[in-house]
Amino acid sequence: MFYNLSRIGDDMDWGMKNRISKIIKKDGHTVMLAVDHGYFMGPTTGLENLGKTIVPLLPYADTLMPTRGGLRNYIPADIDIPIVLRVSGGTSIIGKELLHEGITVSMEEAIRLNVSGVAFSIMVGADFERDTLLGLTNVVDEAERYGIPVLAVTAVGKEMKKDSKYLALASRMAAELGARIVKTYYCEDFEKVVDTCPVPVVIAGGKKTDEKTALTTAYNAIQAGAAGVDMGRNIFQSSNPVAMIKAVRAIVHKKATPDEAYEVFEKAGKSER
Ligand code: 5RP
Repeated sequence: MFYNLSRIGDDMDWGMKNRISKIIKKDGHTVMLAVDHGYFMGPTTGLENLGKTIVPLLPYADTLMPTRGGLRNYIPADIDIPIVLRVSGGTSIIGKELLHEGITVSMEEAIRLNVSGVAFSIMVGADFERDTLLGLTNVVDEAERYGIPVLAVTAVGKEMKKDSKYLALASRMAAELGARIVKTYYCEDFEKVVDTCPVPVVIAGGKKTDEKTALTTAYNAIQAGAAGVDMGRNIFQSSNPVAMIKAVRAIVHKKATPDEAYEVFEKAGKSER
């Protein structure tokens, strides 16, 4: 699927269209860099000093997804990159109800931070799914009032299966409830997830794997019709984060194969040494 942004924008006001066009580039694709992990994982490996790791990556990212504290404390305000702000949270990796999230940032605060979009996690299939789904619709109502797109993250519990049946259900629900972009996980038969979701879909990278595997996942997702990636750990925990984001860009924007992208990774790594 090619995301024709002028068509996607038919029902949208200028502000909404303008913000989405900052997040998803003219070719219909995007490299989003997710650095929001601290809101439930604390000082995640690679983000202990978020600014030190992430600022050098910003020239190669189309969009940054931080928390408000991450943004204020580590990212210079004169930087030219659209922000999709994490606005859900409330639980931690050591608590009993991981991902039972509610709204953590008001729309007024999001506007004060000059964001291009906001991100909210839903947890379909959990006992508390209703809370997260109603939280999403509250955020959508508020954000739509100001022309701010909501990216819904289809979070998946440890005991849940990340298959196309489940991810298509969660992604479609997110779009039906008003998300303008959906972030989900790559899985087999990913076409099914993309084809039944009426808004652009981006994939999370998930836990750190070797670079070739992560690039192959990104490639497969793009081939299946994803608009791009919203990748975190597989970029900033890489042995060479700058080289890795360059390789991911090659897949997302230049149609590189996993082998070609891995070459970009290796070359970029060598030229920095
Ligand atoms: C949790 C999230 C993460 O905080 C993050 O954005 C995931 O990115 P990655 O899996 O690529 O590290 O969305 O639901």
